[in-house]
Amino acid sequence: MKLFIDTGSVAEVEEIAGWGVLSGATTNPSLLAKEEGEPGDSIRRICELVDGPVSGEVVSDNARDMVAEGRALAGLDDRVVVKVPFSPEGLAATRELVSDGIPVNMTLVFSAAQALLTAEAGASYVSCFMGRLDDISVTSEDVVAEIVEALGPDREAQVLAASMRHPVHVVTAARLGCEVSTIPYKVFKQMLGHPLTEAGIAKFADDWKSRPEFGEWLRGLVDEGAAARH
Ligand code: E4P
Repeated sequence: MKLFIDTGSVAEVEEIAGWGVLSGATTNPSLLAKEEGEPGDSIRRICELVDGPVSGEVVSDNARDMVAEGRALAGLDDRVVVKVPFSPEGLAATRELVSDGIPVNMTLVFSAAQALLTAEAGASYVSCFMGRLDDISVTSEDVVAEIVEALGPDREAQVLAASMRHPVHVVTAARLGCEVSTIPYKVFKQMLGHPLTEAGIAKFADDWKSRPEFGEWLRGLVDEGAAARH
């Protein structure tokens, strides 16, 4: 499963991209509204940093204006994917954008029935919001499993698990066969931690320090390698 970052913050993208784990990013109007500066600048910079698909969302409620906004967003960078909210107008806009060669991420998909319509309209990504389903006491795991099953193994549309509130959502999305999960900065940080990892690193460091001559040897090996490369 590919990992995208779900944010409007260039600084957050910069940090997580530095880990070498990002394949793309998603923004939305709420996330961009929290940031300073012009949204187009943020989207362009995020495109450079992730060098993969970056979703930018339309905000109109009718197909004609959605298409106009989508074309404009797609003009920001070749890596922009136009995010369109699910609705009959959104489906129509998706069909038109796709026929222009502009990839679409259909967002706010909460059922397998909606996912089938989304795929049929030609969207590249079907975004299902797990956290928001759990918030209303609908088991997100069941809904995502149903979407993955309904779209089938040969699907062209990728199932994108969104609204990740904790690492278990991410692992569940991967186990269910989602192609992508879009993850907030805070959840990326939570995914790092395990007490056994931290204790293990400390123990390796202590044991190595107990043999100072080994430290000397490793430094020498590093210097030799550096010299050979010059
Ligand atoms: C997805 O693309 C959305 O931007 C996002 O995951 C929404 O998450 P939220 O429910 O935490 O706002």
